[in-house]
Amino acid sequence: MTKKGEKIKQHVKKHYAELAKGTSCCDASTCCGPSSRTSYAKMIGYLDEELKDLPESVTGTVAGCGNPTALANLKEGEVVLDLGSGGGIDAFLAAKKVGPEGKVIGVDMTEEMIQLAKENAERMKTENVEFRLGEIENLPVEDGAVDVLISNCVINLSPDKDKVFSEAFRVLRPGGRMLISDIVSQGELPDEIRENLEMWAACVAGALDEKDYLQKIMNAGFEKVEVIAKNDFIGMVSSIKVRAYKPS
Ligand SMILES: C[S@@+](CC[C@H](N)C(=O)[O-])C[C@H]1O[C@@H](n2cnc3c(N)ncnc32)[C@H](O)[C@@H]1O
Repeated sequence: MTKKGEKIKQHVKKHYAELAKGTSCCDASTCCGPSSRTSYAKMIGYLDEELKDLPESVTGTVAGCGNPTALANLKEGEVVLDLGSGGGIDAFLAAKKVGPEGKVIGVDMTEEMIQLAKENAERMKTENVEFRLGEIENLPVEDGAVDVLISNCVINLSPDKDKVFSEAFRVLRPGGRMLISDIVSQGELPDEIRENLEMWAACVAGALDEKDYLQKIMNAGFEKVEVIAKNDFIGMVSSIKVRAYKPS
């Protein structure tokens, strides 16, 4: 990782540690949009029936830009990996779908988020979820151990997206699928945005041009890479939902 990449990562980590501790105000300078996170959660695609059983400590840290489990067609018994699991919302929704025979692993680099997600799992008595501290560029997961990989508004935050996609490819089993909700740009972002650490933490400055983003997924070896939904987010960036498969 370059010095600049490391600086970005430390800033992003600090930002999400504050969110986990409840000290980050939720305004236009965060990934999370409007101040009411429950209304925000509904705005980005979570259903009332999904949110109603989740404690405030889960819904209160929603910071994604979509609802990837809604698109993943999860089946009982599957092993799911959530990259950048935050407070755990997608991991908990996935855990319900894969049932007691399945398992969900959430990976996040921010200790405070992992701590919060573990407390949430205890609070909800969810036993088929495990949260691991680690970086999505160096996943603490064995080769081919995962059926389905999900991620919600995280990969844009990584200064090394090639490494993220090659790690995603490594941990998926042959024929496994990946469902990502993320932020991309339409065209190149101006340098003053790219250099702004606050805009990195806000899921803007790290957004790659959509074509480049999809090309990186293909370069990692994925096939049938498809944008299944796209919404305008703010200005030059949009939220996309991407599905891709590891060849069988
Ligand atoms: C925008 S939040 C999204 C959290 C969660 N996916 C959600 O939808 O609520 C980004 C999360 O990714 C984590 N993160 C950012 N960069 C990461 C990296 N390189 N490796 C691991 N986790 C990372 C942050 O700590 C934070 O919890």
